[in-house]
Amino acid sequence: MTAAPLQETRFRLSEQQARELAETYGTPLYVVDEAHFRQRIRTYCDGFRAVAPTGELSFATKANSTVALIKIAYQEGCSIDVASEGEFRAALMAGVPASACHLHGNNKQIGELETAIEAGIGMIVLDNFEEIECIAKFAGHGTKFVIRLAPGVDPVTHAKISTGQADTKFGFNIMDGSGERALLRAIELGLPVIGFHCHVGSQLLDPEAQISGGELIAKFAAEMKVRHGFETTYLNVGGGLGVRYTDGDVPMSHADYCREIVVAIDKALADTGLNPKLAQEPGRSLIGESGVTLYRVGSVKIVPAKEIGTRTYVAVDGGLSDNPRPALYGSKYTVERVARKRPDGTGSGGDRTYTVSGKHCETDKLFGDVQLPADLAAGDLLQVLCTGAYNSSMASNYNRYPRPATALIFRDGSHTLIQRRDTYEEMLAREILPKELA
Ligand code: LLP
Repeated sequence: MTAAPLQETRFRLSEQQARELAETYGTPLYVVDEAHFRQRIRTYCDGFRAVAPTGELSFATKANSTVALIKIAYQEGCSIDVASEGEFRAALMAGVPASACHLHGNNKQIGELETAIEAGIGMIVLDNFEEIECIAKFAGHGTKFVIRLAPGVDPVTHAKISTGQADTKFGFNIMDGSGERALLRAIELGLPVIGFHCHVGSQLLDPEAQISGGELIAKFAAEMKVRHGFETTYLNVGGGLGVRYTDGDVPMSHADYCREIVVAIDKALADTGLNPKLAQEPGRSLIGESGVTLYRVGSVKIVPAKEIGTRTYVAVDGGLSDNPRPALYGSKYTVERVARKRPDGTGSGGDRTYTVSGKHCETDKLFGDVQLPADLAAGDLLQVLCTGAYNSSMASNYNRYPRPATALIFRDGSHTLIQRRDTYEEMLAREILPKELA
């Protein structure tokens, strides 16, 4: 039996769109498809609500905090997960009421906590004992609290994006008793604690770790009821579902993923008398596949290379500063030529193997071993799929390059900028030349 062909779930630009966008806004350019993003949220939400009718879907803005995208997520019924005052302010700018935001962070600053609570943030996820003490004075402000637990689960993903293991800076360990102590202390201080949270890792293609995390925090909630009479009314299992960076990455469908997690939690809660509202806060699986990055090829260079004879470098007009993920996590992507410089050119003459490099002052191999047409040439446009998450939000000004703009494509094919490119003026606006140097 041959396997069914994989259903393509990633957004990609047509040649005509790519040409038009590159001409209108320049490159490198992040592009997001509005309808695709809305659809991703809807399939996730439908899958979740099918098994947890009161389920709350939160959009993790760390994946992409472009204000217009936060607005879309909110319009689609998501609450908004923020991990800093900056992300919180972006949510407020999008018109999201503070009450629909949740604040995370393993070392939230006092100023961040105060700003959030005074603005009326809906929920704060408590992460350490110092924070519990510091926040006690805000007990009566209406903000609800949940306790982040480290369930002691090691997911199969890159070590830098695993968060649920016992040896982690995030949350309170269940096994060493910290989780229980945190709950008791928060209650003693009068904080309105409604439940628990865990997030075990990111880019999870397999739901096992997430299922274990959900089960463990549900069992913990049940234990807290038996031991202390604490009624959990809210359980948040974080985000984590992966996306299809390459054809080899096959994440579970939103619906199957939600079902497996919810079934495991329901089972763990059976006969406990607890019926908490369940919540998830994905980022990558909502926005990742809705975005592409458009680059223009600047040069193609063949160099001698040990063992393989020669290597062909294709340099694009972006790199580490707009996508640090290959350098940080060894991430791989799908790269395609979307438009030739001259549309009237002849056929490609087959593919060859290229190393796509960026323009930064170091060996920033962006994408190794990619198959692209043999006649690839300066001026051609490349699109990199699945760059909607953790690209724009992790971009930098390394080498003083302006961060790219983001364009949004609407259902009717029209488009607009939702974030403009940095200007040199604003990049230099923070500089101070002290009079001592005059
Ligand atoms: N909630 C919490 C508490 C998290 O720590 C994270 C991600 C999420 C939600 C959203 O997870 P997602 O659904 O996007 O997997 N910079 C890394 C990703 C780090 C994510 C850490 N936490 C990357 O580029 O892969």
